[in-house]
Amino acid sequence: MQSTPSLTAFVAGATGYTGREVVRVLADRGARVVAHVRPDSTSLESRRRRFTEIGAEVDETPWDEAAMTATLERLAPGVIFGLLGTTRARAARAARAGGDPAAESYERVDYGLTMQLVRSAVAARAPARFVYLSSLGVPDRPSGNAYLDVRRRVEAAIRASGLRFTLARPSFITGEDRDEARTAERVASVVTDAALSIASLLGGRALRDRYASTDARTLAAGLVRVAIDPAFEDRVAEGAALRGAP
Ligand SMILES: NC(=O)c1ccc[n+]([C@@H]2O[C@H](COP(=O)([O-])OP(=O)(O)OC[C@H]3O[C@@H](n4cnc5c(N)ncnc54)[C@H](OP(=O)(O)O)[C@@H]3O)[C@@H](O)[C@H]2O)c1
Repeated sequence: MQSTPSLTAFVAGATGYTGREVVRVLADRGARVVAHVRPDSTSLESRRRRFTEIGAEVDETPWDEAAMTATLERLAPGVIFGLLGTTRARAARAARAGGDPAAESYERVDYGLTMQLVRSAVAARAPARFVYLSSLGVPDRPSGNAYLDVRRRVEAAIRASGLRFTLARPSFITGEDRDEARTAERVASVVTDAALSIASLLGGRALRDRYASTDARTLAAGLVRVAIDPAFEDRVAEGAALRGAP
């Protein structure tokens, strides 16, 4: 594994399946890694302990634009990872618990918080490359698919922001080590992977590289690799590029 001791990386979404692995890969490389954990996170204590154990710093800046701008000004990260996202299941859980499902919507989290981070990075004049965890299948035009359309809008806003960027578009992110059930995604990824294995036997290797699912460990290594690779500056990264060795 290459070391990158001069890099400071800020990871938003650090508590997620992908985010936790990105923090670990960066820490293993000797980077200064700042894992953002929202102050109202139910897992704040355990995450703080685990991140500190592996040599990462924990930042608890609230999701407030001025506060986040001040944090990014102070840290001046070379890379900012935007790895946030909610699910319909989270919104349903919030509603069942008597909360506001809109607070857990794609619009509020995937678009709203990611865009807040982008605006803070711009305002902080951070010398950063913004690495956004988007998704395979992002359309060029407005789409009725709320999940993909949010990613289309975020990608467009990042391109127009003036920040340096890498837009990562993985297929399904799944694995045995995922602690959330996500049955539909898991089934879809197993079916897709099986079909792609058959396709690759018939010569469809490129198809498999593009659409096969990845686990967080593999994806995190790929994300960190493209984040510091000049060839992926202001570019989309997908398929085999996101499965690279750390
Ligand atoms: N899963 C897939 O197959 C797939 C495929 C392509 C792209 N993606 C995208 O990749 C991204 C990360 O995926 P993942 O599977 O690693 O996600 P994940 O495990 O569900 O983690 C989501 C992250 O977003 C944060 N978050 C969620 N709701 C929030 C809220 N209301 N306020 C603040 N933070 C909030 C979580 O923080 P807390 O821990 O504090 O809640 C966590 O850090 C998502 O945007 C996802 O849509 C996923």
